[in-house]
Amino acid sequence: MKFLIVYSSRTGNTRQVAEALYAAAPDGSTISKVETAPAADGYDVIFVGYWMDRGTADEKSKEYLRTLTKKKVVLFETMGASPASEHAYTGFANAATCLSEGNTIMGVLAIQGAVDPALIAMMRKMPVGSAHNTGEMEKTTEEAAKHPDAADLEKAKAYMEAFTAKYEKYYGKK
Ligand SMILES: Cc1cc2nc3c(=O)[nH]c(=O)nc-3n(C[C@H](O)[C@H](O)[C@H](O)COP(=O)(O)O)c2cc1C
Repeated sequence: MKFLIVYSSRTGNTRQVAEALYAAAPDGSTISKVETAPAADGYDVIFVGYWMDRGTADEKSKEYLRTLTKKKVVLFETMGASPASEHAYTGFANAATCLSEGNTIMGVLAIQGAVDPALIAMMRKMPVGSAHNTGEMEKTTEEAAKHPDAADLEKAKAYMEAFTAKYEKYYGKK
């Protein structure tokens, strides 16, 4: 049983989550940046990690998702908004539309991640009260700046442990 963990990360949040997942993954698993991802064939499950870009996966991840066919896939995302928000769910749904034919989504994991200060500065220049320049945006990005924290990375490890146990139980022996 071996998993492939492929991630895309601009500022390191998604990389940290990918590394936490990998730390708890079964022996023989592989972690790779999306730019240098090995062939997915031969891996039991492909974990694809992206940073949320305007409500969906970032461009590099979208491109990678399009290459997958007939695979078991786990999507993990980092995002400025709360992982408990509807935005997190629609993010998974939007990312999933990029997959090619015949894949099965086996799991999802959302983790909050600090937003690039350059983007926050840009949003603050938008008209006050417009979609991206609100008190809500200030609160959300202030909270996001603390993530991923140690508890988030523990959550990722625990996710992988639970997933591996479940996978072994239901798919381990054929
Ligand atoms: C261009 C851009 C668009 C973004 N769009 C969203 C978004 O739609 N929703 C959201 O919650 N966060 C959004 N974010 C925040 C990132 O998804 C978040 O900071 C993520 O953790 C960055 O991951 P990374 O450090 O792996 O690059 C955006 C960030 C950038 C730079």
